Amino acid sequence: MKALSSIYTWADERLGLDDLLHFAQKKRVPEHAHSAWYYWGGISLFFFLVQAITGVLLLIYYRPGPDAFESTRQITYEIHFGWLIRSAHSWAANLMIAAIFVHMFSVFFMKAYRKPREFGWWSGMVLLLVTMVFGFSGYLLPMNELAFFATKVGLDIPNSLPVIGHKIATLVRGGPEVNEFTVQRFFALHVVVLPALFIPLLGFHLWLVQKHGNAVPPAEEAKPPAQRKSIPFFPNFMMKDLAMWLIALNVLALLASMFPWDLGAPADSLKPAPTGIHPEWYFMSSFQVLKLFGQWFPGAAGEALGMILFTLGLVMWFLIPLYDPSGKSGQRARWATYFGLFALSILLVTTIWAYAALN
Ligand code: HEM
Repeated sequence: MKALSSIYTWADERLGLDDLLHFAQKKRVPEHAHSAWYYWGGISLFFFLVQAITGVLLLIYYRPGPDAFESTRQITYEIHFGWLIRSAHSWAANLMIAAIFVHMFSVFFMKAYRKPREFGWWSGMVLLLVTMVFGFSGYLLPMNELAFFATKVGLDIPNSLPVIGHKIATLVRGGPEVNEFTVQRFFALHVVVLPALFIPLLGFHLWLVQKHGNAVPPAEEAKPPAQRKSIPFFPNFMMKDLAMWLIALNVLALLASMFPWDLGAPADSLKPAPTGIHPEWYFMSSFQVLKLFGQWFPGAAGEALGMILFTLGLVMWFLIPLYDPSGKSGQRARWATYFGLFALSILLVTTIWAYAALN
């Protein structure tokens, strides 16, 4: 114990560890009926760390380009525990996106986007978009049949944007077809460009949380200060966060080992697309909106209209801190809550509808 304490003193004299400890202890986390929602940002962070670690392990054997499928086959069937790492990476990607959605809606309904947390909201939205592009680009990398056709279908989403849509889709594909050039591009995006955007943005997001602390929901804010309870972040809340991480790890371990991620057949552009091909679940809502508009208003105009409406909705969602600013509890605040409920319902209904329409 004495040895540990002298090592700490030695390091503290050189690195100023005590200052860091005081900084962490200064932040307090509010305790109230809705405190459980504060865990979801941390859970998203946990899955991101899993992605970084398993992603680097996959990089040891994965080869993009013409060898994409063969190297993924080796990882899945020949490399010791390769299947588990690949399965954990695929499951954690989905769990991360699900956790971010829960985090975003809970932050929304707690009105944590209000002054001074606007940049937390905006940086979070960009993190979500980057994470969805991570998912989309990663999905193609094994170059199996499912990934190939799902990417083709997925690229119909930007393709339906008027004027620039076709150019974007061709640029992303690296030509008119999805092939090994697309894999090479997606690989560069997935392991270089997106992490280079994501990591500094995440640092900014977390720094803002440290700076402003956690927001309390309006009902709690209305209480007199003496009735509001809080606990120190370090070590009290951090221990609870870590307990959540342990639960998240268990869920991931169970899913990855009991339902190993499938590989399937190699992509073959000459074969017809299997029936019911569709993008990943988090794109199903926009996929369904496009499909519906295409049916209601036949021709390219229908899909373009759907895409424009979807983009407008996203822009309104992004700008919510400007419509519902701090300290307001009247009409506007109520409309913001209705907008959130409407957005959540549209997402759920169109996603379920999209899956039901496949059968
Ligand atoms: C990779 C994605 C993300 C990670 C790792 C992440 C991480 C975190 C963490 C650890 C916190 C502090 C704990 C908490 O309140 O849950 C937090 C808070 C926050 N996040 Fe995120 N976040 C992500 C995405 C998002 C998204 C998509 C949004 C909304 C569009 C968002 C908006 C916010 C806001 C406004 C806060 C402050 C909440 C408060 O004051 O109570 N974040 N985030």
